[in-house]
Amino acid sequence: MAKVHVLNGVNLGGLGTRRPELYGTLTLNDIESMLRETFPGVDFEFRQTDHEGEMVGWVRDAVGSAGLVVNPGAWTHYSYALHDALEAVDVPKVEVHLSNVHAREEWRRRSVVSPAVDAVVAGMGAWGYRAAMGYVLGRSGGG
Ligand code: DQA
Repeated sequence: MAKVHVLNGVNLGGLGTRRPELYGTLTLNDIESMLRETFPGVDFEFRQTDHEGEMVGWVRDAVGSAGLVVNPGAWTHYSYALHDALEAVDVPKVEVHLSNVHAREEWRRRSVVSPAVDAVVAGMGAWGYRAAMGYVLGRSGGG
């Protein structure tokens, strides 16, 4: 079974009630269930943390897996540590943002992690995770 890591960073544990007009009403548990139902053939490692060092370790855990989907939250915009961790993991990698970061504050338009991933999805809400999975499975020969 293909193993895919879906990692959510800082403040994403608040999904469902955090700025629903921007991030939607689904919780992370809802998104996880949606992914498991949509991709029953995938062995998901679905996690969230507010601790950057923990996230870096989880990125490393994805070595040898079928792929990595990551929503780094605000770390997107300033974490070179996360960039370097992602750069070192040679699996299909997609950066996901629920909101359209390009239509928001100026500082959200820059991602320091994008150069270390294969693709970026923004503004599709929870659908972005499915889109990212489609790419990962296509790349890894699983769909
Ligand atoms: C986010 C966008 C980031 O700018 C923000 O800090 C988040 C969520 C998104 O999913 O749209 O926490 O990554």
